[in-house]
Amino acid sequence: MRTLPALLLSVAIAVGLGGAARALEEAPEPPHQQWPFEGVFGTYDTAASQRGFQVYKEVCSVCHAVKHLAFRNLEEIGYTEDQVKGIAAQYQVTDGPNDEGQMFQRPARPSDPIPGPFPNDQAARAANNGALPPDLSLITKAREGGPDYVYAILTGFKDPPAGFKVNEGMYYNQYFAGHQIKMPPPLSQTDQLKYADGTQATVPQMSHDVVSFLSWAAEPNLNERHRIGFKVILFLIIATGVFYAAKRKIWSRIH
Ligand code: HEC
Repeated sequence: MRTLPALLLSVAIAVGLGGAARALEEAPEPPHQQWPFEGVFGTYDTAASQRGFQVYKEVCSVCHAVKHLAFRNLEEIGYTEDQVKGIAAQYQVTDGPNDEGQMFQRPARPSDPIPGPFPNDQAARAANNGALPPDLSLITKAREGGPDYVYAILTGFKDPPAGFKVNEGMYYNQYFAGHQIKMPPPLSQTDQLKYADGTQATVPQMSHDVVSFLSWAAEPNLNERHRIGFKVILFLIIATGVFYAAKRKIWSRIH
């Protein structure tokens, strides 16, 4: 019988501590952004997704992989087959073994997964101050707040408030839990890159575009799903009308 109060006490302490830990970690809710892929009729903006791929390739890919994407998937955001071949050919991948049992390097093909920057997680941590840059191909699904959260992180690097001590190798970020992140601000100035389509590369623009690309990467079937959903709803409306008319016709004989 002595164990019950002890148990209750330990539960109370655990809950209390959990609450305290959460308060410490608390980050403001990411502000909501307008995304064209939201809502029942939402679709991806291919121009934004292509610009976002450019941002990923020129900036984020130094540290982050998108391991669930193969080059040929890029055709879904509007690149032609030849463009995809050209993009793939800029990368080297390891293949083999050949007849002598050796692994060898060759230019990537459209069917290859897009290679990440590091051979393994240990190498990724070693290059990033002990922190693992997470794979980005599912990140908009993996984090609460989704696209809004990723956008908020990218645009949330600020000077710390007076009295806030930022540890060495970390950066103040308004929206990261605990406000200190081991990612240096990846998008920090206008025209940091030159967009192929001439759009001006401001920090909010680049952030918006790369999040559009990553949202597509995390849910490539959304356009198709929305198209089918729309057809199903249309079908249900028509079928309801037909059944209603039939019901009236059948019952009219009884009155
Ligand atoms: C110099 C390396 C580097 C570059 C470049 C970089 N990141 Fe990161 N990123 C990191 C590291 C390291 C972490 C892990 C940080 C941590 O856990 O403190 C991270 C974490 C993240 C997170 C996860 C935050 C979370 O909730 O865990 C997102 C999202 C992210 N990066 C997006 C991007 C995007 C998008 C780009 C390109 C615009 C980019 N990063 C460029 C190193 C980098």
